[in-house]
Amino acid sequence: MSAIPAVKIRSAARAIDVARVRADFPILETKVNGKPLAYLDSAASAQMPQQVIDRLTRYHTSEHANIHRGVHYLSEKATDAYEAARAKIRKFINATEDREVIFTRGTTNAINTVAHGFGRAFVGKGDEILVSHMEHHSNIVPWQMLCEEKGATLKVIPIDDLGQLVMDEYRELLGPRTKLVAVAHVSNALGTINPIKEVIALAHAQGIPVLVDGAQGVPHMKVDMQDLDCDFYAFSGHKMCGPTGIGILYGKASWLEKMQPYEGGGDMIMSVSFEKTTYNTIPYKFEAGTPPIAAAIGLGAAVDYLESIGMDAISAHEHNLIAYGTEALSAIDGVRIYGTAPHKAAVLSFNIEGVHAHDVGTILNDEGVAVRTGHHCAQPVMQRFGVPATARASFYLYNTVEEIDQLVAAVRRVQEIFG
Ligand code: ALA
Repeated sequence: MSAIPAVKIRSAARAIDVARVRADFPILETKVNGKPLAYLDSAASAQMPQQVIDRLTRYHTSEHANIHRGVHYLSEKATDAYEAARAKIRKFINATEDREVIFTRGTTNAINTVAHGFGRAFVGKGDEILVSHMEHHSNIVPWQMLCEEKGATLKVIPIDDLGQLVMDEYRELLGPRTKLVAVAHVSNALGTINPIKEVIALAHAQGIPVLVDGAQGVPHMKVDMQDLDCDFYAFSGHKMCGPTGIGILYGKASWLEKMQPYEGGGDMIMSVSFEKTTYNTIPYKFEAGTPPIAAAIGLGAAVDYLESIGMDAISAHEHNLIAYGTEALSAIDGVRIYGTAPHKAAVLSFNIEGVHAHDVGTILNDEGVAVRTGHHCAQPVMQRFGVPATARASFYLYNTVEEIDQLVAAVRRVQEIFG
């Protein structure tokens, strides 16, 4: 493996031994059309290391039973493992208490839980919800549905040509009618890392709570709930080396206690009669039915894995890759990059002049390069930049500069074919 290029490293974090990391991910050995796979689609779903796969196997072979429902050996074992995963995640994001960590099906489900539970209780006619122009659909549509139901209005923080929030306009939009600000930590389509601490502080100065869509944040950098002081933070397991079907809603206990549960059913109740149901305490009030037990335990193992590498080291490695990739793609005539903010995570959205993004993706796949193409569930971002779609390469801890070279060669191949 060639040396990482001479790009200034942002922190004093120890460098990642990429070859060793890659050995943990058997899927990266895949060949596509006889070519080595360059998996550049971790913003959609990251791969799972053997350690997480092994943990899932161990659960299924020796610990599986339903949780919180039995006094037998396996039920207790499964319950302990599930709650231990919650405690790991609490520590990973530095939340104050385990009960502030709710297992959900993913980021979308976490945001909908807040739109339902917070929105139904605290948003009324004439109120405003503030989102940004760079949001993923999952941080737009639940709020639109709520606004429609309540007669409230969805307001939008604009973004500039580099793909950054226009903070002056944000300040102007905050007001007595704003009931919640819901903003991405990192844009999935552009890679912009938002000044989320400032976004939160400005809202809090007016007593307005903030939900952060952290789907592209937590996997790539250290996040600290107490330092950010956000009211809600949502993220997904499958973007951070964990399984699909599991995610987290972090919420301050003071809000969660006041919110209505999103779903009713088993485990979320204290007592039920036909006259009256009393809800369980948090977090269980928000975990109706049998949860994805294995996936939650797998997510705990993913947290262990990421911590064993070090989040600062992961961020620094990705910073190198994005700097290398940006320079390499920018040097090709006819390639345009979308999202050129100075503060960016490892996402490179681009188009090749005269070629539809889907055709780019198809030829890249022929060359063994996996990228996402389309609107990335962020159609307003595409509209802002006047394009229907982009190709998006996204990097993670296991990616290498050689894979970026493979991407660059594949882009040149697209140009040859369409030339
Ligand atoms: N939200 C995921 C993405 O950005 C699916 O690709």
